[in-house]
Amino acid sequence: MTWKSIGIFDSGVGGLTVLREIMQVLPQEDTLYFGDTARVPYGSKSPETVTRYAGEIASFLIKRDIKLLVVACNTASAVALPTLKRTLSIPVVGVIEPGARRAAQVTRSGRIGVIGTSGTIRSSAYTRAIKRLNPDAEVLTRACPLFVPLAEEGWTDNQVARLTAETYLQELKDAAVDTLVLGCTHYPLLKTMIAEVMGPDVTLVDSAEETALTVAAILADKKLLRPPSEKGNHSYYVSDIPAGFVRVGNRFLGGKLGDVFQVSLDEEGVIV
Ligand code: DGL
Repeated sequence: MTWKSIGIFDSGVGGLTVLREIMQVLPQEDTLYFGDTARVPYGSKSPETVTRYAGEIASFLIKRDIKLLVVACNTASAVALPTLKRTLSIPVVGVIEPGARRAAQVTRSGRIGVIGTSGTIRSSAYTRAIKRLNPDAEVLTRACPLFVPLAEEGWTDNQVARLTAETYLQELKDAAVDTLVLGCTHYPLLKTMIAEVMGPDVTLVDSAEETALTVAAILADKKLLRPPSEKGNHSYYVSDIPAGFVRVGNRFLGGKLGDVFQVSLDEEGVIV
């Protein structure tokens, strides 16, 4: 019996935090990862542009016969998920809904903070998803764009990271949120620093962890899980030269990155 892979994409290297969780929860699954390194970042781009990129990448992965698509990028999940779900015939999992669900479950006071890229915060996708589950929740949001380069530089526990986190998070601390959603692929790398700055009374929600659990639940429900005795293989595609992706990706994935192939796509997701 041949088993299909799980397709995962992100604007670049950040989605490897989601892949890492999927590998942890489902070590038996094959995965195909696409990092759009030629066009990163998505966080500062318009919803129309990000939706177009997402469509091209989805077509590329669909041509490789995947069984489920994970939109690991928060920005792409925030703006392109409805279009992808409408146009694709396989299950599509974004990172917003799983993170929002967890936040709505764990909050005690109903005051929830969400941090992400400018695009994610501007879209209000987390706020809408949380309020659908708990209409009384108060959702406070803050874009933290500098966290992305800090995580890629490996500056996650120095003075620059601390000062940046303190500056970005002060408003949310003042607002006394009891839960904070890490609504960007890169933020799990800054989790320790963010936890220190927010203090012990604030629960951090990692969208990457929640997404991996959602993927496992959907595959189990559809009887598409590989037997646990199998060992998954992992392939990586990028749209620019692989060097930077390999360097930073190994840090994101704990040194487990395999071969990385460079491709460039046309509008139909065809390699050109
Ligand atoms: N992957 C993006 C996200 O989770 C962060 C990097 C970018 O702006 O493209 O929103």
